[in-house]
Amino acid sequence: MEPSFWHEKWDLKQIGFHQPQINEFLLKYWSRLSLEPSAEVFVPLCGKSLDMCYLAEQGHSVLGCELNKIAVEDFFKENNLPVNRQTHGEHQVYSTEQVSLIQGDIFTLANESTHSINAFYDRAALIAWPEAMRQQYAKKLAELIPAGVKGLLVTLDYDQSALNGPPFAVSPQWIETHLAADFEVELLECADVLADNQRFVKKNVPWLNEAAYVLTRKG
Ligand SMILES: C[S@@+](CC[C@H](N)C(=O)[O-])C[C@H]1O[C@@H](n2cnc3c(N)ncnc32)[C@H](O)[C@@H]1O
Repeated sequence: MEPSFWHEKWDLKQIGFHQPQINEFLLKYWSRLSLEPSAEVFVPLCGKSLDMCYLAEQGHSVLGCELNKIAVEDFFKENNLPVNRQTHGEHQVYSTEQVSLIQGDIFTLANESTHSINAFYDRAALIAWPEAMRQQYAKKLAELIPAGVKGLLVTLDYDQSALNGPPFAVSPQWIETHLAADFEVELLECADVLADNQRFVKKNVPWLNEAAYVLTRKG
């Protein structure tokens, strides 16, 4: 989606993607990455996700990237975190002790920005893009992730003809076709989550799966 789409969503507070609790797959599978507590974790398209608080509670440093200023400022405000702001080229970097959020477009983020990361977490980032932009995002993600680094990817899959995205349906086949050249892909779980998602139920979407993968950057 174009930046204006997301800015409007944040302006109008139409942020149904924001979860009031920690993602279940993050809680269940983060330990599979076998990270040191001191690991630095990159969270692309982070919004103001509370999942970043969970990652910080594990001892990790969190490096997020988020286009929208309201999202970034709300994250610090709502979690009562003092914050410093610095300008880095066209991006603003908001930092507190364990969390730095780069506010700006991920596509113009220098690849060196993430050279020190030890892991990444993608929930509602890959699935935020329609097909053509999703392929561009997948390539950018591969550029930003150093060789050997692992990440947890959480996706949704459903019959795309039943509903307009976002979130967009991303199937295991799509992941195989577009991510397997750059990442080792391990499917951890694929769960039927239709009953928990009333927007999909109301639109008569016949099925809805949430899946968790471990990705390891090849290199
Ligand atoms: C579906 S939301 C997911 C947010 C977060 N991952 C979560 O789980 O709540 C997608 C987010 O990506 C941000 N975004 C969209 N395009 C972006 C871009 N080009 N660069 C950085 N962030 C972007 C949007 O502002 C939005 O907050």
